[in-house]
Amino acid sequence: MFVGCAITLLCLMSVSHSAPVCEKLVQPLDQLDRHHLEGSWVLVAGCVKDSDDLEYYNTRESAVIQFANASESSEISFKRMFGFNDSCKYIHSNISLEGSGFTFDDSNLTVTFLYTSCPDCLVTRFDLPGKLKRLYVFSRRRALEQSEMEEFKNQSECLNMLQPIVMDPTKQLCPEQDSKGEITEGQKA
Ligand SMILES: *[C@@H]1O[C@H](CO)[C@@H](O)[C@H](O)[C@H]1NC(C)=O
Ligand SMILES: *[C@@H]1O[C@H](CO)[C@@H](O)[C@H](O)[C@H]1NC(C)=O
Ligand SMILES: *[C@@H]1O[C@H](CO)[C@@H](O)[C@H](O)[C@H]1NC(C)=O
Ligand SMILES: *[C@@H]1O[C@H](CO)[C@@H](O)[C@H](O)[C@H]1NC(C)=O
Ligand SMILES: *[C@@H]1O[C@H](CO)[C@@H](O)[C@H](O)[C@H]1NC(C)=O
Repeated sequence: MFVGCAITLLCLMSVSHSAPVCEKLVQPLDQLDRHHLEGSWVLVAGCVKDSDDLEYYNTRESAVIQFANASESSEISFKRMFGFNDSCKYIHSNISLEGSGFTFDDSNLTVTFLYTSCPDCLVTRFDLPGKLKRLYVFSRRRALEQSEMEEFKNQSECLNMLQPIVMDPTKQLCPEQDSKGEITEGQKA
């Protein structure tokens, strides 16, 4: 009985020691401003939970996401543009905005926007059911201030993820308009 109490107390103490730093950083946004989402965002850095996902992540030289202008409905069009060494890949999906993030109409991936102190950033976590996959920071800028990157690194540590990988801001982004041959799939993040 006494031992049980002592252990519980120890646990509570260790939680309260680390909680104040992480609690805010991993908190989902409680309000989504749809107009804030509109337009294009460049991937600045990202991290994965499993090292198995690193290989795919590392083949990308750039990534841009684009939200269509907010309409009345919660369903909007969402584009992803990935730059590889010598090619671009476009993925067009319909998404449903709900709560503090969105879901894809054609995959089980859910995206949640998390707290960030950076005014022109989106910090997003990608989850498959019951499984955290990735954490990304997108911005209107191609690179962040050191303190903003440190905050993102802290967020990844709070979620026990691998070290963030920073994208090379000098790499050319894919052109926004793909002429033809749009690839439609929702599985890859
Ligand atoms: C989206 O909204 C911006 C201004 O907020 C406007 O300049 C742009 O033309 C709109 N795009 C579309 C496709 O409606
Ligand atoms: C990019 O592709 C070219 C040919 O397609 C190849 O020669 C070069 O090594 C590649 N660079 C990288 C960094 O993979
Ligand atoms: C998105 O929704 C529109 C309108 O419902 C539909 O025409 C289009 O095919 C959908 N796109 C995808 C990629 O599912
Ligand atoms: C989503 O999850 C369900 C249940 O696990 C599965 O049956 C379905 O195939 C998944 N859908 C996609 C698009 O992966
Ligand atoms: C990141 O976490 C460290 C402690 O691990 C803290 O000293 C620092 O202030 C934090 N920085 C930001 C920007 O959250």
